[in-house]
Amino acid sequence: MTCFDEASMTAGYARYLAAKTTVDDRALNRHVLAELRRLMPADAPRVLELGAGLGTMVARLLDWGVVNAGEYVLLDADRQLLDCSRRWLRDWAAARGLRSDLLPDGLQVGDMRVRLVHAELGGYLEATHEELADVLIANAVLDLVDVPALLPGLLRLLVPGGVYWFTINYDGETIFEPGHPLDDQIMAAYHRDMDERIRYGRPAGESRTGRHLFGHLRDASAPALAAGSSDWVVHPDLDRNYPADEAYFLRSILTTIQDALGNRPRQVEPADLADWLAVRSEQLAAGDLVYIAHQLDLVGRSPG
Ligand SMILES: C[S@@+](CC[C@H](N)C(=O)[O-])C[C@H]1O[C@@H](n2cnc3c(N)ncnc32)[C@H](O)[C@@H]1O
Repeated sequence: MTCFDEASMTAGYARYLAAKTTVDDRALNRHVLAELRRLMPADAPRVLELGAGLGTMVARLLDWGVVNAGEYVLLDADRQLLDCSRRWLRDWAAARGLRSDLLPDGLQVGDMRVRLVHAELGGYLEATHEELADVLIANAVLDLVDVPALLPGLLRLLVPGGVYWFTINYDGETIFEPGHPLDDQIMAAYHRDMDERIRYGRPAGESRTGRHLFGHLRDASAPALAAGSSDWVVHPDLDRNYPADEAYFLRSILTTIQDALGNRPRQVEPADLADWLAVRSEQLAAGDLVYIAHQLDLVGRSPG
C-alpha cells in the first residue's frame, strides 16, 4: 500500500491528516501553547500522544521547539496509519535536513526516539502500564472517545503532576459560508450522529466535547490551567485558491458529513443532502467556500 494516493481508505485518510496540518498550525491556541511550554519538563520528557495518526504533532512540536529530545510515543488504533507515519516522518525529517533512522518499533528523528504503539485506547487502559508519561497529548481525538469513562484512566498514564495538553476538541459549531437554507438541519443531524456514534464497541465522542472537558477534568481533580479556542478557519485567498492541500481537507470534511448523514435518512432527506453537497462542492471548486469549526484547547496537570 502506498500512503498518499487514494487507492485505499487509509491512504485517503493519511492525506486528510497531512492536509489538516496547516489548518491545525493556525488553529492551535497560542496562549494554551505558551502554558504548555511553561509546564513542559526541561530535559528529554517521555511524551505519549493518543490517537496520533500520521505523527504530524511530533513533527510540529520539533519544528516549534517545544520538544527536541526524549521519547515520543505515537499510539493509534489504526495500524496502517502508523505504518504510514514512519514514511511521513522520514520524508518530513529529510525535507529539513534532519537525520532519521528506522528502529524496530519506530524511528529516531534527531535526538527524539519516536515509538509506534498499535492499540485501541479503551483496551490500552485495561492493561497495566509501568512506564508513565511526563506529557500526555491528544489532538483532534477526545471528541472521538467516551471522555467521562476514559479520562481518569488516561490521567493515570501520567506521572503524578504530569502535563496534559488536549487540543482541537470539537465544540458544537460548524459554519459554512455562504449560508444555505439546509445548514441548520444538516448540522443538527451531523451533531446527533456524533452523539450516538459507536466505534470499537464503545460510545465514540460527542458534539460538545470541548465545553464539557472543563467539568470532566475538574471531576478528575485535574482542572485546566489554561484554555482557549482553536477554531479551524479555512478560506480561499484573493485568487480563490486554498492554501497548501486545504481544498482536499475541505473535500474530506464534506465527505465525512455525507457519510455520517447517509446513515440518517430520516433526519435529512437523501435528495436534500445530495443538493446541499452539490452546492457545497461547487462552491469549493469555485473557491467560494469558507469553513469554520469551533474547537477548544486545554492544558493542565494530572492529580498529585
Ligand atoms: C482525527 S484523527 C487525529 C489524528 C492526529 N491526532 C492528528 O491530529 O493529525 C483521530 C485519530 O485517532 C485515532 N483513534 C480514534 N479512536 C481511537 C481509539 N479509540 N483508540 C486509539 N486511537 C483512536 C484514529 O485512528 C485517528 O488516527
